[in-house]
Formats: sequence, structure tokens, C-alpha cells
Amino acid sequence: MHCLDNEKLPRHVAIIMDGNGRWAKTKNLPRIEGHVTGIESVRDIVTATRELGIPYLTLYAFSKENWVRPREEVQKLMGLLGVYLDKELPLLLEKGIRFKMIGEMKDFPKKLQEKMYSVMKKTAKNKDLTLNLALSYSGRQEILHAIVSLFEDVKKGSVKRINENVFKKYLYTGTIPDPDFLIRTSGEMRLSNFLLWQTAYTEIYVTKVLWPNFRKKHYLSALKEYTKRERRFGRVEEY
Ligand code: IPE
Ligand code: IPE
Ligand code: MG
Repeated sequence: MHCLDNEKLPRHVAIIMDGNGRWAKTKNLPRIEGHVTGIESVRDIVTATRELGIPYLTLYAFSKENWVRPREEVQKLMGLLGVYLDKELPLLLEKGIRFKMIGEMKDFPKKLQEKMYSVMKKTAKNKDLTLNLALSYSGRQEILHAIVSLFEDVKKGSVKRINENVFKKYLYTGTIPDPDFLIRTSGEMRLSNFLLWQTAYTEIYVTKVLWPNFRKKHYLSALKEYTKRERRFGRVEEY
């Protein structure tokens, strides 16, 4: 059991799952083994999020910039993604988890695209947790896409006024709230092009724990810290 104040839990948690390669290195294993074990952490954290009743979880799994990694690593990662989608579907259905992909679908091999569409379709009515997997994702690209689509709608006349709320709808995360809490594993103090618009007022938490070692107990202590933060959004503290 956990001793977290449910009222204070975030509604949307975003995680930069970093450190798989370093984990493998410490064990003298090929980098891909870090990704393999990292999938176990994904399962653990997804399950814990669902148990805690947090309705949105966004996981950064592969960035647009990650395509330039060695061919072998990229190919194996694509293979792992396919296996993950096949293997996790029963759990997603059983636990009422909706799967969504955010990022550039067209960058993926056709077979993988079909698999992603199929899992999104099969889980579309699930309501307990929305799991966004950021794949071939770039925050800057997302903003650019949003601007281009918005521009089209302005030309067509279906949009007359532009403000933050209107713009937000054009992002991949258009219908979901901004992340309240961002966790980055493995110690790096940067966003690496993740959710640039959406993280304007997100609470940030960086831990040295490498992603393949990051499990429910680490997650609970991160969330515990979140419940103690004071979010001010530019206002002065209450006194
Ligand atoms: C994160 O782990 C997973 C992906 C980016 C696919 P890394 O592979 O970046 O691991 P490190 O940062 O090299 O340790
Ligand atoms: C960020 O990790 C992307 C993912 C976790 C998928 P990277 O390992 O690619 O980030 P940098 O290169 O250290 O900034
Ligand atoms: Mg990394």
C-alpha cells in the first residue's frame, strides 16, 4: 500500500525514460538489453499509475532525434516495440487502458504503423487510464505541425480567433490536460525536446535512478515529493 494523499496526486504524469544504455553498460551487456529490461519498468509504472487512479500517463520512448542512432539499435528497438504492442494488448484491455501514440506515425515501417493503429482502435473506449507513448516525437515538430494545421483552418475560415486554448487543440495532446508532473530518470537536467508547449508550468523531478531500475517504489517517492510541492503559476503564495 502507499501513503499518498489521493487528492494531491497529479492528473497527468509525463516521464522521460532515460538511461537504458548506461544500465546495460554497468552490466557489460549490449545496449539493447537495457531497452528490454526497460520494458519491465514500463509495465510496472503503467500498472501503478492505473492503481493510483491517475488518468493520464505520457511516456517518452523514442525521439525524432533518436533515428540517427546506430542502425542495429534502431532496428532492434522497432522489433521490441512490435513485441510490446502484441504482448501488452491483453493487459491494456483487462485494465481499461487506452493506448495512444503521439509523434510521427509515418516515420515507422508500415507493419508497425498497422499494429499501432490496431491497438489504438481496440483500446479506444477504455476510460481508466490514457497511456500516451511518444514515438518519433519532437516537441518542436509538434508545434510546427500545429501551426500548419491551424493556418489551414484559418484560410478555410473555420477558425476566426487564435488564442492558447484554440492553439492547444492542434497539438498531439490536444484533448488532454497538460502534464502536472514530469519525471526524468538517469540524472540529465534537460527536456530533450519533450512536450515543450505543454510543460510550461509542469513540476519537474529528476532522479539518478536509471530507467531499467525505476520501479513502483521509486515512482511512489517521486509522487510523494510532488504532493508536497507548492504550485504557484506566477501567483504569490497564500498567507
Ligand atoms: C532511453 O535510454 C531510451 C531511448 C532513448 C530509446 P537511452 O538509450 O538514451 O540510454 P542512455 O541515455 O544512453 O543511457
Ligand atoms: C530522450 O533521451 C529521449 C527518450 C528518452 C526517448 P535521449 O537519451 O535521446 O536524450 P539526450 O540525447 O540525452 O538529450
Ligand atoms: Mg539517453
